[in-house]
Parts: sequence; structure tokens; C-alpha cells
Amino acid sequence: MKKVSIIYWSCGGNIEILANKMAEGAREQGANVNLKHVADATIEDVLEADCLAFGCPALDATKIEQEEMRPFLQQLESFKDQNENKNCILFATYGWIDNSFMKIWKDEMSSYGFNVIGDLAVKDSITKKHSSMIMNLSKQLVK
Ligand SMILES: Cc1cc2nc3c(=O)[nH]c(=O)nc-3n(C[C@H](O)[C@H](O)[C@H](O)COP(=O)(O)O)c2cc1C
Repeated sequence: MKKVSIIYWSCGGNIEILANKMAEGAREQGANVNLKHVADATIEDVLEADCLAFGCPALDATKIEQEEMRPFLQQLESFKDQNENKNCILFATYGWIDNSFMKIWKDEMSSYGFNVIGDLAVKDSITKKHSSMIMNLSKQLVK
């Protein structure tokens, strides 16, 4: 059984919806799911997982959330050897910029050793189509 950690930051609830869908898709595949808001997550949640998904909205133009999510992820640089080639998926929501922040975020996660196998950036509200896309990504992640 694959262990997947889904670590996210959400204030208004959009990312939380996607995180829950991600968890639902992974559980349907029989994965052992560890779903946490980043405020409750530890480095062990990352190191113990076989694969990961990280979710965060775009805030402040092309940046992910800077007070909790980014510092948490930056710590992972020190564990690059243990993250090496671990598959991960990134999911995001954004309101008014283009989705260029996703490219920046993907490059950052690759620099920490992760193998980013898929991503989803949703503009404005989450539709049924997005829910189905995120569930498909979660299935790819844990297969
Ligand atoms: C304080 C704040 C700053 C934001 N800054 C941006 C931004 O710079 N660019 C953007 O596209 N969306 C921005 N947004 C919109 C959020 O990315 C969007 O509402 C997202 O879905 C919020 O996720 P959440 O509901 O999980 O907290 C901002 C939202 C808030 C509340």
C-alpha cells in the first residue's frame, strides 16, 4: 500500500476542497492517505511518504503563500537526498494573474529533488471538471 502525504495551505477553502478530492482519489486506489494543513505538518510527513501532493493558492502575484507554506517547503532542501525522485503533484488556485507561478513553483520543487509528475492550477472557483481532474492526478500519483 502506497503512503501518500497531501500537504496544503488554505485560508478561504478552495485549496482545501482540492486537497480533499485528492485524498478521495488516492483512497479509492487503496493508498494510505495522510492529509494535513501545512500548519500541522512536519518534515516526517514528507520523509515517510512514498509520494506527495502539495497544494497552495497564488498570493502576492507569482508567489505561493509565504508565511507557512514556503518556509515549510524550503526546509526540504536540506533533505534533498531523501526526496530524490519522489513523485509529487502540485495543485493551486489563483484569482487574477496568469498561471506562471506554477512554473516557478514546479522549478522550486524540482530543485529540492522531487519528480513533479503533474500539476493543476485552477482559476477562480472549482468546478466538477476540476474535481475530476484532481482525482485523476491522485490516481496517477499512487498507482
Ligand atoms: C490576501 C490574498 C491575496 C491574493 N493574491 C493573489 C494574487 O496575487 N494573484 C492571484 O492570482 N490571486 C490572488 N489571490 C486569490 C487566491 O489565489 C484565490 O482566492 C485562492 O483560491 C485562495 O485559496 P484558498 O481559498 O484555498 O485560501 C489572493 C487572495 C487573497 C485572500
